[in-house]
Amino acid sequence: LDRGAVQPDLAGRHVVVSAGGTREPLDPVRFIGNRSSGLQGYALARTAAARGARVTLVAANVALPDPAGARVVPVGSAEEMRKAVLEAAGDADAVVMAAAVADFRPVDYRGSKIKKAEGAEPEPIRLAKNPDILAELGERRRAGQVIVGFAAETDDVLANGRAKLARKRSDLLVVNQVGEDLTFGRPDNAAVILGADGSSTEVERGAKEALADVVWDLVAARLDPLPA
Ligand code: CTP
Ligand code: CA
Repeated sequence: LDRGAVQPDLAGRHVVVSAGGTREPLDPVRFIGNRSSGLQGYALARTAAARGARVTLVAANVALPDPAGARVVPVGSAEEMRKAVLEAAGDADAVVMAAAVADFRPVDYRGSKIKKAEGAEPEPIRLAKNPDILAELGERRRAGQVIVGFAAETDDVLANGRAKLARKRSDLLVVNQVGEDLTFGRPDNAAVILGADGSSTEVERGAKEALADVVWDLVAARLDPLPA
């Protein structure tokens, strides 16, 4: 199948993509993490670069080769990701939050390894809420900037997606159903992409690259034309 020459329809644009999953440290050797592989975010970075964009990829704990043509900013925790994303978003035309950001972090970080104590029960782990990076991007957006979120849902997928899109003031929300090995670590994905304009675009199960290209099609359609 010849898809023909790739359209450089993102030439002259700066896009920021977050990928992977944040890790919230408990002590120097332990963390609370999640199952995100980073594959979808890396596919977004690769396809954006192929379409001519300057790409900043904020990558949390990903074991994947750097995508050609992207500047990779490695981060660990949600707080580190927040700093890197907000900084890169300053002059970005679009920001896509494909990363799985931990909702909570341990309140106390122990500077030395937590040890078992003879005969004593373990301490409970107290959690605090992390900042919502996507919501902050929605609040701070520059004129013309397109903000895209991802949502992993197991129940009431579309209703939860619509509510999430509105709550975070995003332009687009890529909603996929998770659980039972439907998404994590797989090369393929299926999704419905909801738009703040009421639109809804179904993407059949296929390569994460194909879903990425549909996301960029929808982003490109929402960008202001470049100054002549
Ligand atoms: N997100 C974020 N910062 C957070 C949590 C999530 O930027 N602290 C982003 C994710 O990168 C994703 C979107 O918000 O693009 C939705 O993430 P999701 O976990 O589905 O939404 P939450 O608002 O955390 O709601 P919940 O997990 O309770 O369903
Ligand atoms: Ca969450």
